[in-house]
Amino acid sequence: MQKIVVEGGRPLRGEVRISGAKNAVLPILCAGLLADGPLMVRNVPNLHDVKTTLRLLADLGAGIHLDDSFDIRIDPRSVRSHVAPYELVKTMRASVLVLGPLLARHGAAEVSLPGGCAIGSRPVDQHIKGMQALGAEVSVEHGFIKARAKRLKGARVVFDMVSVGATENVLMAATLAEGRTVLENAAMEPEIVDLAQCLVAMGARIEGAGSGRIVVEGVERLHGGEHAVVADRIECGTFLVAAAMTGGAITATHSRPDTMDAVLDKLREAGAELDCDGDRISLDMHGRRPRAVNIATAPHPGVPTDMQAQFMALDCIADGVGVVSETIFENRFMHVQELLRLGADIRVEGHTAIVRGVEALSGAPVMATDLRASASLVLAGLVAGGDTTLDRIYHLDRGYENIEAKLSGLGACIRRID
Ligand code: EPZ
Repeated sequence: MQKIVVEGGRPLRGEVRISGAKNAVLPILCAGLLADGPLMVRNVPNLHDVKTTLRLLADLGAGIHLDDSFDIRIDPRSVRSHVAPYELVKTMRASVLVLGPLLARHGAAEVSLPGGCAIGSRPVDQHIKGMQALGAEVSVEHGFIKARAKRLKGARVVFDMVSVGATENVLMAATLAEGRTVLENAAMEPEIVDLAQCLVAMGARIEGAGSGRIVVEGVERLHGGEHAVVADRIECGTFLVAAAMTGGAITATHSRPDTMDAVLDKLREAGAELDCDGDRISLDMHGRRPRAVNIATAPHPGVPTDMQAQFMALDCIADGVGVVSETIFENRFMHVQELLRLGADIRVEGHTAIVRGVEALSGAPVMATDLRASASLVLAGLVAGGDTTLDRIYHLDRGYENIEAKLSGLGACIRRID
């Protein structure tokens, strides 16, 4: 079992290149199933979840070709199966995103129920509601979602709550449905805008992606195309918070500051000096300790839930008291117990954590539980005295490309050991 060891105490300095967004590339790879020809996807991050998705697409029969810069070519013309097996879906809930494309392109889909995960039960009722609204017959039996439809028909779909995945699944299905589909109470994340741009490049007709109301005019066919994945705003935010915690000064390149307003505002509140210039974001703390910030996660354009653990790590060593509220997932405070082991002062009351900044954390062995919790423990290790050893780092590898190489490039003392 691999571990990561971080020796704290070094301010981060230098430049870091931001990779393509995990939460954009996963739906975009699934969108390749909708086309009549190959889809070329560029700026793909080399992540475990990407490899899992490629395995799933290959299982369905799609042709997959990776070149040495990890650009990916998906050829859906050889797809034969419409079944996404439990073995793959249980390791990555985003596999449910093949439901809409298979149903729309082949008239049938069988996708294992993803099951819960560490951060919550993660139901898919809104995905099913959307497919039924488009005229599919959907049943859930023996742990599988079984959906059929001769041809989907455009409809008005009003989501009960804002759901990134359900918005993506229904958006993809609607591109080949007959007539007009209107998605109301749609998620507005930048990854949805990126997916829509890829679908439009494939011939889809979509208006309003990035707003709460998306209108799709169904077409007969989608052709192949080419798309470069948007920068990962969560990876970028993670490195900027790391620099703020260590009192350093870094520049993130190949980023998209326009997708990160809430995160950048919170970093300014914490005392960071920020300068955005095109795809470059420069942060400078001038050696100062960050000020505590209050965080309440919200759907985009609010503070992303995927940045909650990282900002909590900042509050652990900040000057003051920060109140952190998690409003999206029911169990996304697993990092609290591990941060307490490092000497943090945190009190949890329901979905709110009161974080009292301490002068210093002390290194200790800690355990990763989910992707962003793992990132917050690495960040805490960057400032803790002595060594922090992180176990179960496969969680990290799901969502961060070469995180220790990128942090070492910024001057951190971090290494992976077997
Ligand atoms: C996406 O998950 C992201 N994953 C998550 O990132 C992210 O935290 C989340 O959106 C919120 O931004 C990918 O894009 C692959 P949701 P998703 O549907 O689509 C409830 C990471 O760390 N809900 O927006 O699964 C759900 O339980 C990951 O990169 C239903 O009740 O999230 C949750 O409480 C973690 N029924 C809330 O809605 C449904 O049918 C938001 O979930 C769907 C969702």
